[in-house]
Amino acid sequence: MMKILTWIKPTWNWMHIWNYFWALKPLFDFAKGKEAYVFLPDFHSLTSVHDAETLRKNKVRMLKEFFALMPEDANIIVFEQSKVRRINDITWILSSVTPYSLMLRAHSFKDAQNKNSDINMAVFNYPILMTADIITYDIDVVPVWKDQKQHLEFARDIAENFNKTYNCEVFKLPDSKIDEDFKIIPWTDGRKMSKSYDNFIGIFDDEKTMKKKIMSIVTGSESLEESKNPEICNVFALIKLFASKEKQDEIAAKYRAWNYGYGHAKLELLDLILEYFKEARERFASFENNMDSIYEKLEAGNRIANEIADKKYEEIVSVVGL
Ligand code: TRP
Repeated sequence: MMKILTWIKPTWNWMHIWNYFWALKPLFDFAKGKEAYVFLPDFHSLTSVHDAETLRKNKVRMLKEFFALMPEDANIIVFEQSKVRRINDITWILSSVTPYSLMLRAHSFKDAQNKNSDINMAVFNYPILMTADIITYDIDVVPVWKDQKQHLEFARDIAENFNKTYNCEVFKLPDSKIDEDFKIIPWTDGRKMSKSYDNFIGIFDDEKTMKKKIMSIVTGSESLEESKNPEICNVFALIKLFASKEKQDEIAAKYRAWNYGYGHAKLELLDLILEYFKEARERFASFENNMDSIYEKLEAGNRIANEIADKKYEEIVSVVGL
């Protein structure tokens, strides 16, 4: 069975609509009929988060959000990078066959260096750990967006270097699946919805907050009586994500007729979102009091990841001569 791997970043917490439609939903769809792994790259988070309380809080929040949104029949193995005992040993061994010149080409490192003249070494080594995250588990495909494309190429290069150096086939070369044309989901200002712009709709925001955010979406300024064009409206772009085709047509017709204001459309959008995420929001609320089921699933996932990594490590030490 095809093995796929993706990740949920502890720093993403505050799952918003864009994360869901760009990252999670395609993952849940793509994972069907495949052996799917999702992990939290918490070692990677240490490159930028240097406060224990923040890291812990973000991680717990992310876990609640992820497990609330994961369909119950999803059958996805979820694990924590930092609980995989051999992951850094494997990373070290891989760094011994990784050319410095290759690492100097990493966009992620160059960007970080441009922003901050003295980066930490983990930022520099980041792609090697990321490679280990993938090739340790014989992953076939990693669905990524373009920003991670180069990292995936590095993973292939490093895996190939290792296999060539030791004349072996210990590592499988992973493929990336790149979704170039994912839809940009607009928000208040028409920019991409993002936490850093503070222009997002949080899936688990309380109703009042959600309503306030939706009400602040920037729209045209036609009066109630005037006919409106749904196709250029930020609210309608969001409605399309949640409404059935019939419902979309019905709302579009109201836009084009008269006596339907942007305020009405916004209220319909709120209802649609609440309905769409009803179960997920209920599950999220239930985790407030009890996260046992989450930790059980994580433990099971960590166990599986360790079994695979331990086995891979045995193969590696044998070919390198340790
Ligand atoms: N680099 C990814 C990001 O910035 C996170 C990541 C770490 C990752 N290890 C990975 C992604 C392995 C895919 C596979 O979001």
